[in-house]
Amino acid sequence: MKIPGPNLLQFMNGVRAVGFLEYVGRLWREYGDVFRVRIGRRTLVFAMHPDAVERVTVSNRQNYDKLHSYDSVRKYLLGDGLVASTGELWRRQRKLMAPFYTPKGVQAYAALMIRDGERLVDRWSDFARSQREVEIAEEMTDVTASIILKAMFSSESVESIQQMKSAVETMIAYASDRLTSLPIPDWLPTAKNRRYREARTMVHELIRRVIAERRAMDESRWPDDLLSKLMKARDEETGRPMSEALLRDESVTTFFAGHETTARTMTFTWYALASNPDATARLHEELDRELAGALPTTESLRRLPYTLQVIKEVLRLYPAAPFYVRDAIGADQLGGFDVEPGSSVMLSPYYTQRHRKFWTNPETFDPDRWTKEREAAQHPFAYHPFAAGQRICIGNNFSLLESHLLLALLAQRFTPALRAGFTPRWVMSGTLGLANGLPMVIHRREARPAPAE
Ligand code: HEM
Repeated sequence: MKIPGPNLLQFMNGVRAVGFLEYVGRLWREYGDVFRVRIGRRTLVFAMHPDAVERVTVSNRQNYDKLHSYDSVRKYLLGDGLVASTGELWRRQRKLMAPFYTPKGVQAYAALMIRDGERLVDRWSDFARSQREVEIAEEMTDVTASIILKAMFSSESVESIQQMKSAVETMIAYASDRLTSLPIPDWLPTAKNRRYREARTMVHELIRRVIAERRAMDESRWPDDLLSKLMKARDEETGRPMSEALLRDESVTTFFAGHETTARTMTFTWYALASNPDATARLHEELDRELAGALPTTESLRRLPYTLQVIKEVLRLYPAAPFYVRDAIGADQLGGFDVEPGSSVMLSPYYTQRHRKFWTNPETFDPDRWTKEREAAQHPFAYHPFAAGQRICIGNNFSLLESHLLLALLAQRFTPALRAGFTPRWVMSGTLGLANGLPMVIHRREARPAPAE
């Protein structure tokens, strides 16, 4: 069966009128679980049903890869790093890096996550005193950028954290701009091209310096961070270490993939809590009862299941990566429709996770969906905020640990309130975002110990 869908003009007008995210939702309502858009010679196939997620990422995964859809990201941003690599290189690197990111492996970073969280507590205490409005999205990006850079490079220098953050942001903006606007040759000396080149040189130079400093040191004195782990890793077959270029690409990839997504998740968490007082009350009750004002630890997180349920529900309703794409190598069928070779299949955590057949009251924020029993009863591919199958996000444990710790630390002490009358404007710009930011005023709260039994 042929896949239905709008023509290019309809699609462009629709996106212009209501934005990509909202328009795709309208197409879903109009055409059902599989529809397509043709843009020039490219065909984008949107597949919203959990069974399609399973087929593309697991049972027929040999037919789907990160091919032409990733060309721009590969060329301008991530090189051969894990997000964009394919084939044997990807397999080797994934195997090599997987042990760093197991639930146990990421616990090595809990202490630095807590330290950065405590710094934020001090900063927010000042904000709470002055009652000045703050941009929560920026607060969250700063803390997650700092955490990932420390986890990678043990960098404590605020200046290099800020430099790296803004240079990588320039590179991200350039790579996504090249996907969506007219392809002006990248060698022309335009302002955009120049800014991109400067940013890339800066990032590469910074990483080259850190690697050189480390090489000049005795290995026994290397700090225990991700870069040291990458530098010490040896290929199982050849026994060779990673090349300098690959070390650099993996470092940029980890920074790119490892902070913005968690920052967005935390930002949306503050929005969800401010809009759902009942969930906030339950969260406060758990934090006060279990922590009674103490700092969270990896040990005490086990006693904070509701805090984690809040995060999982935020990742359902507001997944930081609302779409991800795989290119079809050969022909396939999804939901009875014919997928042509070369099509780019767009899977969508944002819409699958709101599918009426799989979620009751899908638009309602309800952390109770994530009790053990209810989670076990879900279709296993109806929820895929970290993608699925063998290319599932390698950093998911890192991210969940970070969000769990930060939320426990901050929500214990503060209640950020939305600006009166504020309505968020959700947009898709690579990641899910808020076009109008998230202005909030931070109020201090005192931990209330649970009443005696
Ligand atoms: C809430 C936070 C996060 C979300 C929602 C998220 C989501 C995702 C998604 C959807 C993918 C698949 C992309 C694709 O296939 O096109 C992915 C891949 C990846 N993520 Fe994450 N991610 C998060 C945090 C992190 C963190 C903290 C790190 C690193 C510390 C990380 C590193 C990676 C890497 C390296 C890949 C590529 C894996 C591979 O292809 O083998 N992510 N992530």
